[in-house]
Amino acid sequence: MTTAEAYAEFGRREARGVSPTYERLSHAVAQDDAVLALLDALPPAKRQPNLLFSVVRWLGGRVDDPAAFHDFTVTHWPAVKAELLTRATQTNESGRCAVLLPVLAALPQPLALLEVGASAGLCLYPDRYAYRYGEHKVGSGEPVLECAASGLVPPTRVPQVVWRAGLDLNPLDVTDPGDVSWLDALIWPEHAHRRARLRAAAAVAAADPPLLLRGDLVDDLPALAARAPADATLVVFHTSVLYQVPPPRREEFVRLVRELPGHWVANEAPEVLRHDGLPDPPDDAMHNVLALDGRPLAWARGHGQAMTWFG
Ligand SMILES: C[S@@+](CC[C@H](N)C(=O)[O-])C[C@H]1O[C@@H](n2cnc3c(N)ncnc32)[C@H](O)[C@@H]1O
Repeated sequence: MTTAEAYAEFGRREARGVSPTYERLSHAVAQDDAVLALLDALPPAKRQPNLLFSVVRWLGGRVDDPAAFHDFTVTHWPAVKAELLTRATQTNESGRCAVLLPVLAALPQPLALLEVGASAGLCLYPDRYAYRYGEHKVGSGEPVLECAASGLVPPTRVPQVVWRAGLDLNPLDVTDPGDVSWLDALIWPEHAHRRARLRAAAAVAAADPPLLLRGDLVDDLPALAARAPADATLVVFHTSVLYQVPPPRREEFVRLVRELPGHWVANEAPEVLRHDGLPDPPDDAMHNVLALDGRPLAWARGHGQAMTWFG
């Protein structure tokens, strides 16, 4: 896929119906030969729409006006390029806990949670957040995570978590204002509710920080898993991570995680982690597949805002 095609695809499949600003901007960049030429001189992983848009916003540029975006990006290219090369899309979306909750609540309790690709670790607190599945409420406190769920019998309680740990190539620190401002810049422009959610979830994590280690999800997983308490159910999980991992390493990770004791929960795009016999998705928006121990259970929207349980 060319860079222009990738931006058009992002607008059509990821931003449409979710962020009109990014939908408009991604289609504009798809036709902007000057910006495309600059991007094409970077490694492929650094050309992503979400990364470029977040860096420009973080540096003070405008994303609500494609012409102003073009001028800022071209004029400030050395600074934009430097940030693109050092930063990564590490969006940490606590809303994804609403998708994980039905699976986590149904496993033998208590749980030892180990998240790979944890970013700042905000998905390690599914027991501390509150949830709303339509009229059905679970848990208490802030943030309240809303998920339009169909075909699901919603959980009646949150899981009991006795240990939480995360691995990330570049762990972010919720007690560091610089890291939190980058997490904020990664949130799409119109999503005030996600900004409020980030602040609330970051406060939860900052009050009781998780064990977050810098490391790779293949090389460093066994040693961290060995630190989990033996009298809890180990759950290794990941959401929206494997698209950043080269395919041969994904396969190594899957082989490794299947050998560990406990359970494996994945929430990944179907192109990235393949499953046989998936039903059709509910629409043509981007969906992850929620799976337990390799068995697909549901389609889930990217930020945890909706899920369609398989029949
Ligand atoms: C898009 S973020 C998702 C964060 C979090 N899972 C969530 O859903 O909010 C992907 C994260 O995976 C991390 N990551 C990518 N490749 C990794 C690897 N090989 N080992 C560990 N972490 C990795 C990135 O640094 C980033 O923080």
